[in-house]
Amino acid sequence: MLNTTLNIIPKPFHVRMPGGFLTYPLQAPAVKKHDPSLPREGYLLSVSGDGVTAACSSDAGYFYASQTLRQLRRQFGTALPFLTLLDKPRFPYRAFMIDCARHFFSVSELKRMIDAAAMFKFNIFHWHLTNDQGWRADLPGLPELREKGSVRTHSNFGRVYDPTSYGGCYSADEMREIVSYCRERFIEVVPEFDLPGHVSALLHVYPELACGQRPVELKATGGIFKDILCAGNSDTLPVLFKIFDGFCDIFDGPYIHIGGDEVPKNRWRDCPDCQAKIASLGLKNEEELQGWLMNQVAGYLREKGKISVAWNESLRGGNLDGDIISQMWMEKGTLSADRANTGHALIVSDFYHHYMDYPYGMTPLKKVYLFDPLIDGLTPVGAENVIGIDTPIWTEHVRDFERMGYQCYPRFIAVAERVWSTEGSRDYKDFRSRLKKVIPALDSLVPYASEREWDPNPVQRVSQTVSFFARSGNAEMMRNMKE
Ligand code: ACM
Ligand code: ZN
Repeated sequence: MLNTTLNIIPKPFHVRMPGGFLTYPLQAPAVKKHDPSLPREGYLLSVSGDGVTAACSSDAGYFYASQTLRQLRRQFGTALPFLTLLDKPRFPYRAFMIDCARHFFSVSELKRMIDAAAMFKFNIFHWHLTNDQGWRADLPGLPELREKGSVRTHSNFGRVYDPTSYGGCYSADEMREIVSYCRERFIEVVPEFDLPGHVSALLHVYPELACGQRPVELKATGGIFKDILCAGNSDTLPVLFKIFDGFCDIFDGPYIHIGGDEVPKNRWRDCPDCQAKIASLGLKNEEELQGWLMNQVAGYLREKGKISVAWNESLRGGNLDGDIISQMWMEKGTLSADRANTGHALIVSDFYHHYMDYPYGMTPLKKVYLFDPLIDGLTPVGAENVIGIDTPIWTEHVRDFERMGYQCYPRFIAVAERVWSTEGSRDYKDFRSRLKKVIPALDSLVPYASEREWDPNPVQRVSQTVSFFARSGNAEMMRNMKE
């Protein structure tokens, strides 16, 4: 037996190394072998005197075998150790999210993020394309979304004030290019049109869809805004359906994210049309009205063969359709666990562990790595319904690619291991030592934080956290912080 640590991330399911080496040219791929008995994304990589083979039941499995082989080559060059490496993911939904609404990132920057994620076997790119500060999807037949919704007059996120106008919008061709770029890397794009809140950009384009039909400005600051889509206006759903037609035309994957987070109900409480809608549908309150609205959208998308995903606030009405996948990011009670416990799929995006826009002092690498996504309150049945993790980078405070790379890497790599490898393989010391060897693979691709920044000491943790919230102007969130 060869006693060598393999510098592979995510840690493979099972490896046996009998001893001995094969000289194998750097560029030569593994020989592909079809084996229907292997799990869909799994593979069996063998290095022996006969060569290098990758058995798999799907092209995705072969792709993941190739990523592993790449890492072996970084470690061993042309002298590969004999091995039998059986690998498969723990969870099927392995997502990273980029918020392109608060700040805009070019297609080439996104491609670099996608390349980096593919190295670590992520398989979903959740593309947050709409929010209060900008509409970023130029959809066929709806040029007004780009013309009126994609440029804000200035930016003022926390203490950073920029008086210049700021905008950006992906053309349909660019979005299609990202879809096919991802697919070549076995990544599905999940576009998000966040509704019925976080829609200032949309309401700026269509003020008639706001309660009271009031004019709404694109926002220059972060936050939660009261103007939301009027659920009682009979024009709202037809417009939403038209927009989703545009999304479905471009994004041909199985999932669409329909948002549902942070929806203040002030306007709905005061709006005669929304109140009339609640009464005519026999709903109890505004939370049920949100559930109803999400269901209308999800129903329309279901007809088009799509599965909808929605943030956990959509569960509050208790009437969300069962086939909508809910995504937990922050909640006081146990609605998300209850949802999974009663047989429904759940994605975990835990604010305290998976939100990469916060400083390393608040969310150190070790904390990210050790967090198992089986959240409190899950029964064994509920645990079976957790389909994976989505790790977001929100970009109010991430103005450029340099910052995005620094915030995401290496923390995305810790999430990648958590969502692929078994819970039993969690060993931070071992992960860190592999990471030090693996991370230079990102050198020409994305910026990343240097080792001394990964796990700040307690004093640094407090000072980074306090100064982040002081700068970002979000004291409320700091008060709510927990370990
Ligand atoms: C969220 O962070 N508002 C989903
Ligand atoms: Zn209304």
